[in-house]
Amino acid sequence: MKGSDEMEHVSIIIDGKKVSVPKNSTVLEAAKLAGIEIPTLCHHPAISNTGSCRICVVEIEGHKNLPASCVYPVQEGMVINTKSEKVIKSRQHILELLLANHPKDCMTCEAAGNCKLMDYCYDYGVEDSRFEGAVSKRHVDDNNPFIQRDYEKCILCGACVKICDEVQGNNVIDFANRGFDTTISAPFNKDLDAGNCVYCGQCMSVCPTGALTSKISKGKARAWETKKVLTTCSYCGVGCNFY
Ligand code: FES
Repeated sequence: MKGSDEMEHVSIIIDGKKVSVPKNSTVLEAAKLAGIEIPTLCHHPAISNTGSCRICVVEIEGHKNLPASCVYPVQEGMVINTKSEKVIKSRQHILELLLANHPKDCMTCEAAGNCKLMDYCYDYGVEDSRFEGAVSKRHVDDNNPFIQRDYEKCILCGACVKICDEVQGNNVIDFANRGFDTTISAPFNKDLDAGNCVYCGQCMSVCPTGALTSKISKGKARAWETKKVLTTCSYCGVGCNFY
């Protein structure tokens, strides 16, 4: 009989490699354990998964659709392909859809060199979008001394909402409006300075694009000229650590 602290494992095949992983793993976690990297935008290890961006899709034998690996649990005997033609095409399609509603100012964007959307477009050979349609025009929230929120660059992954709630316990921001008008804001669709934001910067640390950038470092150096270090915020005295 197994001890209560002994973790149960299942055997799966991922990209032709047989691996044994903890029974309660997601496919994304299992891939990581197998040394296989799957792209992610809304996933961050510090917060719970929503499966909102879909860039992490994989092919699983016996499944018609491509599930999001960050929210899909492994099962004994599962056969997973993370790089099939169907998977690659689907990820390219998702990137094109995101680009269709995204500003094309990457050359001067503060997040250039530190943008997952840019990295994946490069990795998957997506130079432009075939999809033309309405582009959302939203304002830039610049009313505070620390964080600039460029809503046009927001892909609505929700990572900033989750880290503010689940890690910081502040719960300052959330989704507002619906459909094409969906945005992220402080209560009553207001800018950050109208809420009880303490400007800890955790939202910036998980943003996968240039939607959330630091006004302190803006224009001083590009991402590849700087080094991330663990630091302690001295703004409010709580002493939060972040990179
Ligand atoms: Fe899995 Fe976004 S990373 S859906």
